[in-house]
Amino acid sequence: MIVNTELEQKGNLFPSEIINYKKDVDTLYFTTKNSVVLQVTVVRDSVIRFRYSTTGKFDNDFSYGITIHASRGYNFLDVSEEDKYYVIKTSKLICKIEKQSLQVSLYDAKDMVLINQDEIGFHWEESYEFGGDIVKMSKISQKAESYYGLGDKPVDVNLKGKRFENWVTDSYAFGKNTDPIYKAIPFYTSIHDNKSYGIFFDNTFKTHFDFAQERRNITSFWAQGGEMNYYFIYGPQMSDVVANYTDLTGKPHALPPLWALGYHQCKWSYYPESNVKQITQKFRDLKIPCDAIYLDIDYMDGFRCFTWDKNYFPDPKRMVKELENDGFKTVVIIDPGIKIDLEYDVFKEALDKDYFCKRADGPYMKGKVWPGECYFPDFTKPEVREWWSGLFQELIEDIGVKGVWNDMNEPAVMEVPNKTFPNDVRHDYDGNQCSHRKAHNVYGMQMARATYHGLKKYSYPKRPFVITRAAYSGTQRYTSSWFGDNVATWEHLAVANNQAQRMAMSGFSFAGSDIGGFAEQPQGELFARWIQLGIFHVFCRVHSSGDHGDQEPWVFGEEITDIVRKFVEIRYQLLPYLYTAFWNHINNGTPILKSLVLFDQEDQHTHYRSDEFVYGEQILVCPIQEPNAKGRRMYVPRGKWYNFWTDEVIEGGKETWVDADLDSMPIFIKEGAVIPKYPVQQYVGEKNFDEITLDVYYKIGKEKSQLYDDAHDGYDYKKGRYSLRTFKLTGKKKEFILQQHKEGKFDANYSKFKIVFHNLPFTVTSVQIDNVEIDLNDLNSEKHSITIDKEFTELHLFGK
Ligand code: NOJ
Repeated sequence: MIVNTELEQKGNLFPSEIINYKKDVDTLYFTTKNSVVLQVTVVRDSVIRFRYSTTGKFDNDFSYGITIHASRGYNFLDVSEEDKYYVIKTSKLICKIEKQSLQVSLYDAKDMVLINQDEIGFHWEESYEFGGDIVKMSKISQKAESYYGLGDKPVDVNLKGKRFENWVTDSYAFGKNTDPIYKAIPFYTSIHDNKSYGIFFDNTFKTHFDFAQERRNITSFWAQGGEMNYYFIYGPQMSDVVANYTDLTGKPHALPPLWALGYHQCKWSYYPESNVKQITQKFRDLKIPCDAIYLDIDYMDGFRCFTWDKNYFPDPKRMVKELENDGFKTVVIIDPGIKIDLEYDVFKEALDKDYFCKRADGPYMKGKVWPGECYFPDFTKPEVREWWSGLFQELIEDIGVKGVWNDMNEPAVMEVPNKTFPNDVRHDYDGNQCSHRKAHNVYGMQMARATYHGLKKYSYPKRPFVITRAAYSGTQRYTSSWFGDNVATWEHLAVANNQAQRMAMSGFSFAGSDIGGFAEQPQGELFARWIQLGIFHVFCRVHSSGDHGDQEPWVFGEEITDIVRKFVEIRYQLLPYLYTAFWNHINNGTPILKSLVLFDQEDQHTHYRSDEFVYGEQILVCPIQEPNAKGRRMYVPRGKWYNFWTDEVIEGGKETWVDADLDSMPIFIKEGAVIPKYPVQQYVGEKNFDEITLDVYYKIGKEKSQLYDDAHDGYDYKKGRYSLRTFKLTGKKKEFILQQHKEGKFDANYSKFKIVFHNLPFTVTSVQIDNVEIDLNDLNSEKHSITIDKEFTELHLFGK
């Protein structure tokens, strides 16, 4: 055992030797002489849960993070006792538990490579101030080990050498390296020796992570209360680690309606109605596609949630309908603070029913937010969530609002130094009553959850759309998210890039930044560059604080307007590609954005890359993050890639210069990809088209691509009314084959594919569709494309 007197002097306590071992199906209990119990549960062959008690007893096993739908079950489990260890074997992992110290080490079951090892391992400190323990874990950081994840941290992708705190915080105008900010996602992934694992520390108290910062070879995590309770998730592929974490904490319950993946426009605030109409009209006049318009707090009557300011919006139902007729969905903000006002029925009802949070000694939790003094519903109580869900009936069912934006749900409180509730506030925590220390990090999540259930109910049979600022692990099940109050600077553009990647590798793909920056005003150039990045984020919304002037695509002059249009059109063309990636995300837990390390972990050059990422499976993107750029150097991952603009093919595995004037950006398509494209529409569903494009990027060899489709809203897809087309491309020197396999019962409106060949290396001499020779004249005039029935099973080109 490692005896660390310095740590002991600091009040740390350690487990002593194991004196008892018990097995109950998939769960093992190891008890030490000083009453520490380590509970080990084999969740899956590659997922093991470690839970420690210092009293011999465990708390009620309850988690907001873990979904009830998480997969369970393993192929193999064997436990044996050796001289110095207990050994737990699954088909993927070998876990040794040292009898003397309770220290854990984990090995790959196939090649016995050490993956993760406790240094001191579990230890704790009595929390004399609050009671309970400060629970700690320290592990050895292996040679060349790198770390990733942790949600929205505004830092470079690799976390090595850094220390973080998870405490959901309203962070207006946060900067690069500000910590903590809005989200608490205590999950990280790691890689060394080409093996990746992840650790999800499911503890909602304030948690801390130190990735070899304080001590060079040690990585540790600890919490201010609760249990040491973590899930060890083994890959060895990082993509599998992320997928398994997403399986544990949940995939989005449903696909978003397709319009939610369009471009959204927001500002604090658009009002009155005439202003809203002016903005939406301008989008249509200038032909910049847009699907959603947001109403920030000023639509309300004195910032009372679920009310309207009738001076600004005399007839919301009519307005929302008119906007809808023009293709705009209305999204409104709803905050948690309920104005103290006995004339206000939402307040009155919650007061009567005792739904507001209270301080330890009984008074209500009173805090100032936009409406002045407010009380706050306890969203950790099921009955309160149910009530909250019901409040959306009028907004959604009657007025026709299509989405709800939950803000300030950290919860943010003004005019107090800690910016939130005091620690003593009481919460129900679904029947596990506790203080705010434990409930703080999930408060916003539970609000978004209640909002989601309301929207789901009243939007039915359509799908709900919710967006939240605060989040804990698992929040992705209910809602999308944005990164909070960023600033209109170049540095923030880079921060947004890293946050989106980091969120995706933390199981939360449906996220994006305030494009252009919330605080301060961007120059046109910065705005254009940010749009270029933003169209490749899953949630794509321009938002600004509005106190520095306007931030619509047309306010920066014609050149910028044209660039914005050009890129937003690309987003709309790529909607079927994004929708397919989203389907893959909700089915398989695959992140929609992939940092290069996630894309190709074997190539060590990717371990420290922060700027480049892969969008979906086959599009490589690298934003321009500096002013006056004519292009940039970037790392192109291994394999061959087509320059999206020129079709020039480059060999990856190296850094390269890529030209990108202001109206361009580095975008590459993976060789062999089949990229589906819709015609440009001003909003989702505007056009009824008979044909969609498949861009085929020629490759010598084989490649697989997919195209998912359904009704773009509603739930029929869950009953089999979807279509999943798999395209298998085989390219030879003078021959090309594209095979299609379709599954699912959905039949899209369009009947044809226009197949566009990029870099076909031969002159076509004959064409067969499903083994029938067709007239060469059927090739479109430029000979680079052919339009065929969408149900083809094989397209075969021969050439010379
Ligand atoms: C803070 C949010 O982060 C911001 O997006 C919003 O505009 C303001 N609150 C006003 O509601």
